[in-house]
Amino acid sequence: MRDGWLAENFFRHDSFPGSAWERNAPPALPVHSEGGAFKTVSSRAEPGNKAETLPLPEKGQYDAPSGASCGAARATARKGRRTTKISSNGLTPVPEPNENSPCHVSVMPDEIVHGVSECSPRIVIDGTYGAGGHSRLLLDVVGDGGMVIGLDRDPAVLARVESEPAVDRLSVFLGSYEQAAKALEASGLEYADAMVLDLGLSSDQLADRDRGFSFQHDGPLDLRFDPENGIPASEWLARNNEKAIADAIYQFGEERFSRRIAREIVARAKRREPVRTVAALVEICRRCVPRGKHHDIHPATRTFQALRIAVNEELEILTRTLEQAPEWLSSGGRLAVISFHSLEDRIVKNAFRDDDRWNVLTKKPLRPSQEEVAVNARSRSAKLRVAERV
Ligand SMILES: C[S@@+](CC[C@H](N)C(=O)[O-])C[C@H]1O[C@@H](n2cnc3c(N)ncnc32)[C@H](O)[C@@H]1O
Repeated sequence: MRDGWLAENFFRHDSFPGSAWERNAPPALPVHSEGGAFKTVSSRAEPGNKAETLPLPEKGQYDAPSGASCGAARATARKGRRTTKISSNGLTPVPEPNENSPCHVSVMPDEIVHGVSECSPRIVIDGTYGAGGHSRLLLDVVGDGGMVIGLDRDPAVLARVESEPAVDRLSVFLGSYEQAAKALEASGLEYADAMVLDLGLSSDQLADRDRGFSFQHDGPLDLRFDPENGIPASEWLARNNEKAIADAIYQFGEERFSRRIAREIVARAKRREPVRTVAALVEICRRCVPRGKHHDIHPATRTFQALRIAVNEELEILTRTLEQAPEWLSSGGRLAVISFHSLEDRIVKNAFRDDDRWNVLTKKPLRPSQEEVAVNARSRSAKLRVAERV
């Protein structure tokens, strides 16, 4: 094992043969332990490699002051246990809670591999590491001399990665994909050849009853990807007025009954019954959203989506990332983005179209095959767009 090389907010121990990292290792920087948490760990599961706390980026530098860390995950594809229940409306599969092994099934894996491998990349950023499914495929794409850099905002992802055997050529950082430049820098690299974003939440997060993502299980109304930073959705509701709540539910959830829902949320807060739990918000949505004759989604679906987007500032981060991503990619490099709703897809489509640093490779978004949708219902709304750095 080599000594830890600290670069800005990250450090890693493992080597990457033949890379800029190996040739030009960054000098060690001091570790600061005060302030917020940038938790870092070794990418090698060796005794004595303890997590350390590093300083947060300057306030406002990033959307959420989430941490950055590196670790490693096993490269062998595991058979994710995927015992799924079908919800009462028959549409939303809810994975069983599964603390030890991920149950998330990667969406559009073949299309991601195809879209990225055409540019023969050596360095790939997986900006939404999740259960690591895409990363494991991307390790094959980059080959023996290549490297995959993963990022995820969720500390639970980091904890899982830490508990798994290390993998050469893979570094996982705890932080937003907006911080990809920092992860590159920490790896001694200037550019990546490709970047993958698989937006939204994973089945593992949906299955965790303490996170509030599934409205089919009661629990605290949190909805943060990074529960160690920012404010939970319950607090977000308490801090915003009726108009702001209604606007968010309308804009991010495209919920026609947003005003009714917001009015009820605020009325309850005034009666000293603030909405703090999943069940309380679901009950409000049930009462405020009339069941249409042809309704096909749960009355709380749009409201929960809206609050999740608001609390995590998902659209702002995506927009800023798409503006910066051309600076992180080598010429001819590719960016592949899987989105799950029209708001995200519109942002990706417009960013690719309006920026002449991109050559758009997917005039229309690619969709999952019928076969994939049949075995992975979560993929049904996925849209993949790919662009090439000019
Ligand atoms: C759909 S899952 C990714 C699954 C992964 N591609 C796989 O195959 O296992 C989305 C992941 O993105 C993470 N995420 C959401 N917003 C993020 C952000 N701004 N930066 C980094 N990760 C983010 C979530 O925590 C979640 O783990």
